Amino acid sequence: MQFLTCFPRALWLLSCGIVATAQVDYSRYVNPFIGAEGPLPGQGYGGGDIFVGGARPFGVAKVGIDTTAANWSVAMLNGGWTPDGSVTAITMMHESGTGGAPKYGIIPQMPLTSISPPVNILDNLTYSQPRIGQDTASVGYFRTQLQNGVQIELSASRHAGIMQYSFPQGEKHVLVDISHYLPGSPFDPNGQFYIGGEIQLYESGQSYSGYGTYIGGWNNGAPFTVYFYGEFNTVPDAARVFRGPNTDPMRGSQGLANGQPSFPAYDSSTEKQSSGPMNDRVGAVFSWNPDAETRFTSRVGISFISVEKAQSYIRSEIPSWALIDTVESAVKEWNEDVFSKIQVPLDDTANLTNVRLLYSSLYFIHLTPSDRTGENPLWESDEPSWDDFYTLWDIFRCTVSFYHIFQPAYYESMVRGLIDIWRHQGFLPDGRSGNWNGLVQGGSNADNVLADAYVKGLRGAINWTDGYAAMKTNAEKVPYNTYDPTDLTASTKEGRGALVDWLELGYVSQDRSTRCISRTVEYSLNDFALSQVAAGEMPEDRATYLRRSAGWQKIWNPEVESLGFTGFLAPRFSNGDFNNSGYDPLYCYECEWHAYTYEGVPWEYSFVIPHDMETLINLMGGPETFESRLDLMFKPNTSVQELGPNGAGITTLMNIGNEPDFATPYLYNYINKQYKSVQRSRELAYQYFHDAPNGLPGNSDAGAMNTWLLWQMLGVYPLVTTNVYLLVSPWFPDLNMTINGDKNLRVLATGLEEGYFVQSIRINGVLWEKNWFEHEDVMVDGGVIEFELGAEMKIWEVGNVPPSLGHVEL
Ligand SMILES: *[C@@H]1O[C@H](CO)[C@@H](O)[C@H](O)[C@H]1NC(C)=O
Ligand SMILES: *[C@@H]1O[C@H](CO)[C@@H](O)[C@H](O)[C@H]1NC(C)=O
Ligand SMILES: *[C@@H]1O[C@H](CO)[C@@H](O)[C@H](O)[C@H]1NC(C)=O
Ligand SMILES: *[C@@H]1O[C@H](CO)[C@@H](O)[C@H](O)[C@H]1NC(C)=O
Ligand SMILES: *[C@@H]1O[C@H](CO)[C@@H](O)[C@H](O)[C@H]1NC(C)=O
Ligand SMILES: *[C@@H]1O[C@H](CO)[C@@H](O)[C@H](O)[C@H]1NC(C)=O
Ligand SMILES: *[C@@H]1O[C@H](CO)[C@@H](O)[C@H](O)[C@H]1NC(C)=O
Repeated sequence: MQFLTCFPRALWLLSCGIVATAQVDYSRYVNPFIGAEGPLPGQGYGGGDIFVGGARPFGVAKVGIDTTAANWSVAMLNGGWTPDGSVTAITMMHESGTGGAPKYGIIPQMPLTSISPPVNILDNLTYSQPRIGQDTASVGYFRTQLQNGVQIELSASRHAGIMQYSFPQGEKHVLVDISHYLPGSPFDPNGQFYIGGEIQLYESGQSYSGYGTYIGGWNNGAPFTVYFYGEFNTVPDAARVFRGPNTDPMRGSQGLANGQPSFPAYDSSTEKQSSGPMNDRVGAVFSWNPDAETRFTSRVGISFISVEKAQSYIRSEIPSWALIDTVESAVKEWNEDVFSKIQVPLDDTANLTNVRLLYSSLYFIHLTPSDRTGENPLWESDEPSWDDFYTLWDIFRCTVSFYHIFQPAYYESMVRGLIDIWRHQGFLPDGRSGNWNGLVQGGSNADNVLADAYVKGLRGAINWTDGYAAMKTNAEKVPYNTYDPTDLTASTKEGRGALVDWLELGYVSQDRSTRCISRTVEYSLNDFALSQVAAGEMPEDRATYLRRSAGWQKIWNPEVESLGFTGFLAPRFSNGDFNNSGYDPLYCYECEWHAYTYEGVPWEYSFVIPHDMETLINLMGGPETFESRLDLMFKPNTSVQELGPNGAGITTLMNIGNEPDFATPYLYNYINKQYKSVQRSRELAYQYFHDAPNGLPGNSDAGAMNTWLLWQMLGVYPLVTTNVYLLVSPWFPDLNMTINGDKNLRVLATGLEEGYFVQSIRINGVLWEKNWFEHEDVMVDGGVIEFELGAEMKIWEVGNVPPSLGHVEL
């Protein structure tokens, strides 16, 4: 694959150069393939699972190719694009960076040069196309060459896509199979399925419309329906609808024809096909005269509301048939809305690798969630509507804090959208996709998101009375059990599945609940989050939730020993006894839904108490023991737990490839040894983040990984649910960032050429002696942080260590 630096950027520059010479095309620095591969070249396994294709910031449409699994045991189809699979379709909706069973990959087109046997248009494996050469992508543009000779180029607006096909001489067809979706692997317990649809042709097949309905995917979503309107810029010479039995094996249900592919029945007597009583597969084939080489273009709009709305998006968002117009408009939108808000030197002195990492990271954190305002089919509301929180478990740790300062308008809208979900559906989501809450991997982390927004002063049109009530629902109301096969013990859909334990015992028990350690850790922070918002909204609640936020201390077992250290979070029975038989905090006992800890081992989770580091350091034996224990987290060849794609290639206990450890490298600030935070985090960034396809340590997780790197480059790290930021060490000599709408945060660094260790810091001109600051210091009205850097690993800070705002002595 290659990322494009000449076309269409050059054209954008050309068109802008005339009006405003000052505009810079930052999109040229975006490498849309970062995270496209894992450690094994040419394979997606262990990689970022990213979406590659046409998209807008937080847009609904993410237009790109879907591919087959070359080998299911190492396949990751989640973003649609894979390095090695064969193309099955171009579809309108995707997620980016997710694991688990895929979601979306729907509303397709597939250019084919034959539809005769052995091709069966209801069996993608008979027509899927390997790709020739390398795919090309840049912001708002994607191109691929199929083995059948067809070249596909595409771009997207917020709710529509444009595809340009260049066919060789010979047969020319475009298949629209409404029953297409991104499948889960045969081992996925929660793959998605097509459950019905309709297609109707107009004007001899020059346009078509209809809907498709799909169910499932990783979040076990209920059926949702997407309407579409598609059109071609040339009238096809023939267009036929078809229908065929729906034979996909659906978990837990009987299928038709034993899962064997079915065959289509064409019906030339009608221009419409509906799934009918047996949820048949439906679609259409559009064909053009074989004589000449042909290039033609198609536009497709989508809507959760109606065909009319889908059509209207084409008219308002892609008025031109020229692909370049949409590409240019995408580049312009990304530059204006995202990239131009951060400026670093781009002259000869610039390290372009770092510049590319910067703008690419900004790109990837704006692919999800999706702004579905005006596209909510479920309830009438004046509130904005957002979907594809995939998931808050991933993005609460530092992504939302970035949105807060960088995209305050979008962020306020997002928070309002979250609260409106509670208002109309009873619970805030932790994950949400396809208009459906699910899954909850640990705590109810929307609590952390709301608290982070609240303590940093986000108000606007947010109804915080309702916001706090929504958090309180998480903290007090047991969600009904959804009997998810991945974990039958309690709800995985929303809320806190182990709340019964939490309310009664103050911790999550080993015998009555799953994920007892990681859920205790997360519920503790969730309740701290409640105490933070209660302080303003319901002061009488504050003490209660603060006390509850110390629940993690109840599962601290001072007798557990591991690698020379004593005292760890440990499984505890509901009768109050610890289970001391054979427990080893180096293992999580599968790390999944039935484990003690989710996607990480207790060694890691034992550091994840951001609201009360003071107590944690005491329990670990004081600052010196804490320091050597933290050091051990970074020792190679220490990890013994197999973490699958969540730990690909990582041998330290510290796993930067997974979110729970995001703050761990920065914890040296709590013992006033900030230079070690700089050292650890910088080493991790250099080792695992690259301007290359294998440039991420695992799934990008909806941009969570990319945001970790962004904060690292800024030289600060936010402590979620508090107004505190830790000071680290910036990567650029000068950086301006538009924050809080129209304010400027400037981060200056001298001495970068000598080293990256802090020698001194000034904030707004004042010598800063502590290694942290508060939101109000520079994030509200803007300000300047000046770092004096150098080679000396220096203890420069003398002030108080960062506060433990949730400090509680039980
Ligand atoms: C291909 O089609 C079959 C039959 O509909 C389906 O089961 C499978 O999931 C599809 N595979 C891909 C990669 O789309
Ligand atoms: C699929 O990948 C697995 C894991 O790498 C490997 O063991 C297996 O041989 C592969 N199967 C095929 C058919 O290549
Ligand atoms: C940041 O802003 C200041 C003040 O406007 C300006 O002097 C400086 O050149 C800017 N730096 C960059 C990298 O754009
Ligand atoms: C740019 O920075 C990277 C670290 O991200 C470093 O490895 C590389 O050597 C630098 N390149 C130049 C030309 O200084
Ligand atoms: C917040 O919403 C509730 C109803 O959900 C309403 O009663 C209340 O007036 C709203 N508060 C504000 C400030 O709008
Ligand atoms: C105690 O923990 C060990 C090791 O994790 C486990 O094998 C055992 O089943 C647990 N005992 C009970 C009674 O749950
Ligand atoms: C880690 O183990 C590998 C394989 O046993 C070995 O090659 C490597 O040198 C070890 N690294 C360290 C830092 O001990």
